[in-house]
Amino acid sequence: MSARRKLIAGNWKMNGLRADGTALAKGLAAKLAAGPAPACDLLVCPPFTLIVPVVEAVAGSALAVGGQDCHAKTSGAHTGDTSPAMLADLGCRYAIVGHSERRTDHAEIDAQVKAKAEAALAAGLIAIVCIGETLAQRDAGQTLEVNRSQLVGSLPDGATPENTVVAYEPVWAIGTGRVATPAQAQEVHAAIRAELVKKLGAAAAAGMRILYGGSMKPDNARELLALPDVDGGLIGGASLKVADFWAIAESC
Ligand code: 13P
Repeated sequence: MSARRKLIAGNWKMNGLRADGTALAKGLAAKLAAGPAPACDLLVCPPFTLIVPVVEAVAGSALAVGGQDCHAKTSGAHTGDTSPAMLADLGCRYAIVGHSERRTDHAEIDAQVKAKAEAALAAGLIAIVCIGETLAQRDAGQTLEVNRSQLVGSLPDGATPENTVVAYEPVWAIGTGRVATPAQAQEVHAAIRAELVKKLGAAAAAGMRILYGGSMKPDNARELLALPDVDGGLIGGASLKVADFWAIAESC
């Protein structure tokens, strides 16, 4: 039996105005207050504009808040960017780095993702490092190699089970309704764990959480979360509804 406590993380992406974000956060905090708490850690990652109202809305609850990205520097001339120190200052505990939408929309490469993750750790945040193959790469039989290479290139120096989480998000499953089969997910998660053994040693690899992301919904979460190397979920669309996010958390 693994001692890894599952993490259910909501990535709200670029969604929600103040009223929406506050209502969603309060709805989840109310569920937690009503109990019983699901057997997992819970995290929401709102857009930067909503971090303050969300932190306020969940104050005193076990719901953690994180950023969806961060810069690799603490401060300076970087117009439009947000540093990990700024996220920590607002009460964030996590930062997602290297999401495939950042890699695509902002041409982020592994070295930048690694630098961002290391900056997140230096600011006391837990980095959620995202990797995943495209459909073309899967069809070309490159899935394991692509994920191995992204993992090795993006994992921060100094990664431990306490400060780093890996998220496997097959690009073809994100926002498509096409979820990885349990066999596909377990194959990649096990390969990621094997690579972590090589990089960090057996004990650290055994303790590090590997999340699955990509069209995880209440109706497929239980099966995915029961897999031996799936330690939680990074949820997009279904994290925008209290009932759906809660149902996924309850599947743990
Ligand atoms: P969906 O759950 O909407 O497929 O998004 C997954 C994701 O990208 C989470 O980071």
